[in-house]
Amino acid sequence: MRGIILAGGTGSRLRPLTTITSKQLLPVYDKPLIYYPLSVLMLAGIRETMVICTPDHEQAFRALLGNGEHLGIELQYATQAAPRGLADALLIGREFIGDEQICLILGDNIFYGHDFGFTLRQEVEKLDGCTLFGYTVADPERYGVAVLNESHHLVALEEKPSAPRGNLAVTGLYLYDNEALDYATELRPSARGELEITDLNRRFLDAGRARLVDLGRGTAWLDTGTADSLLEAGQFVQVLQKRQGVQIACLEEVAYRMRFISGDDLGALAARIGGPASEQGRYLTRVLETS
Ligand code: DAU
Repeated sequence: MRGIILAGGTGSRLRPLTTITSKQLLPVYDKPLIYYPLSVLMLAGIRETMVICTPDHEQAFRALLGNGEHLGIELQYATQAAPRGLADALLIGREFIGDEQICLILGDNIFYGHDFGFTLRQEVEKLDGCTLFGYTVADPERYGVAVLNESHHLVALEEKPSAPRGNLAVTGLYLYDNEALDYATELRPSARGELEITDLNRRFLDAGRARLVDLGRGTAWLDTGTADSLLEAGQFVQVLQKRQGVQIACLEEVAYRMRFISGDDLGALAARIGGPASEQGRYLTRVLETS
């Protein structure tokens, strides 16, 4: 399976924060936003990922994450010149994806929860068509909305409906079989001029090959679209990290726990980050000593 992080867009609702930088590079407490979706792909067991960003910010993403080798993964970069829609990510990534299955994640989505990585790996394992992840929200009209029948089967998908038929939002994490590439090619832009991910998902639904996994109450799905939600996401991460003494989306730790890198590699990364003189170096050393 290949991973794609869609990290383009104009970030217009966050200006002036995003005037000279990408939204997905903004801090969420102590890490750049893109660390969170990248950690999700790593927890899914994916080692080959493409980061899609705007041409203006490609250098910054490359400087931040490099080729991924230090994390035992392979990162590639591609650009999207204009926000043509989420499904455009599959057209941009077509060659990189090849014949593989796909895990697409939006660069501004944060997931955190008990056994989330385990759940994800299970879903990757049994993927057959398209798997979506739902989350109950108070304001479904802001999202793609999923409608389930009495036996909890997915029966309808609507993009930002003015009168939602339920509270289950479709999160920005999508698992697809390779036929998604053909479906994406056939999509036409919506009224807002975008290749809509919901239209792509509906193709799978119409073919009887889409299912939805409700993430339930034990998982947090956080939005970072506005200054308020970005700050709240940072506060959420801060509260959990301080209380538990463990980090959320520490890429070096995830790489080590997923066995993408060895203990020696992690020790070397801890030293490179600053060793005992830096908080992050001390944290990584503690991970090494206590696992
Ligand atoms: O967050 C989940 C929601 O994401 C889903 O529930 C919706 O079904 C889906 O359409 C999408 O909703 P939004 O309209 O809120 O997505 P937005 O346009 O804000 O784009 C999400 C991220 O993707 C954002 O950080 C910018 C980036 N993006 C967006 C577009 C349209 C790109 O990199 N390229 C694009 O062409």
